[in-house]
Amino acid sequence: MTIAATQTFPGAAWDELPDVMLLDSWPPAEPLPGVDVLVEAVVAVGPAELDLLPDLRLVANYGVGYDRVDVAACRERGVAVTNTPGVLDAAVADLTLALILACRRHLVASDRFVREGRWERGWARPELLGRDLAGATLGVVGFGRIGRQVASRAQAFGMRIVFHRRTGGLPLDELLRTADVVSLHLPLTPETDGLVSRERLALLQDGATLVNTARGAIVDEHALVEELESGRISAGLDVFAAEPRVPERLLDLPNVVLTPHVASATVETRAEMTRVLVDNVLAFLRGEPLPDEVSG
Ligand code: DGY
Repeated sequence: MTIAATQTFPGAAWDELPDVMLLDSWPPAEPLPGVDVLVEAVVAVGPAELDLLPDLRLVANYGVGYDRVDVAACRERGVAVTNTPGVLDAAVADLTLALILACRRHLVASDRFVREGRWERGWARPELLGRDLAGATLGVVGFGRIGRQVASRAQAFGMRIVFHRRTGGLPLDELLRTADVVSLHLPLTPETDGLVSRERLALLQDGATLVNTARGAIVDEHALVEELESGRISAGLDVFAAEPRVPERLLDLPNVVLTPHVASATVETRAEMTRVLVDNVLAFLRGEPLPDEVSG
């Protein structure tokens, strides 16, 4: 069996894989017959890429979100797809709280204020006055494992929690009108693509904060940039519609905190993700049921 990987992954479990062919580029420059397993993270795997790997039987996706893998195209060709759920919830929830705090307390602007020597010219600057988390309402959109961990952390800060999910909670529009902070925790699917549209962004209260650690395309990014340029709302963004491209107009705005898709990026969590990925590949090699096969 031949395993190809778009990169190596951190943690001791990686060394449990038999020989791995490290790909120089993705998609590969030439067809690669004989590759049975592809190990990848955040790369597109669709019909064009699958044509280059005619013998593929497994795509092992590093991450819980597998929106860049065309699962239907894989299924048509008899290729299974696995992901790494359950081990990154706490890390993503932690970064979500970090972004909420960074936006509500002007953490990045305060850091710049000190570095640029502006502190000497006055303390208690109105532009650094933040908003309390205690007593504010957090609207969690998507109330699965990650959303619930975000809610329990926010509760510890004294926030009131409302949530929306497909099967219950507040209707989305009502949540957007009600919450001081809105945090997105949904997978990117045809149903959630563009869910937070221009019209829905307009429902956010003046002064509200939007945090996105899920997927950029869930929000109408053009409309979001315009709302942020107007200064009406703030945002903490870990994900973008066309990563690694970040809309240039965001770069100089003081009311947005930008991070490069690092919500799961801790030493411990990334090693656990590798453990889960490797367990799936080893199960495949042994002909056993795949612990984390996704169904589409
Ligand atoms: C995930 O696990 O989905 C992370 O966002 C990395 O893609």
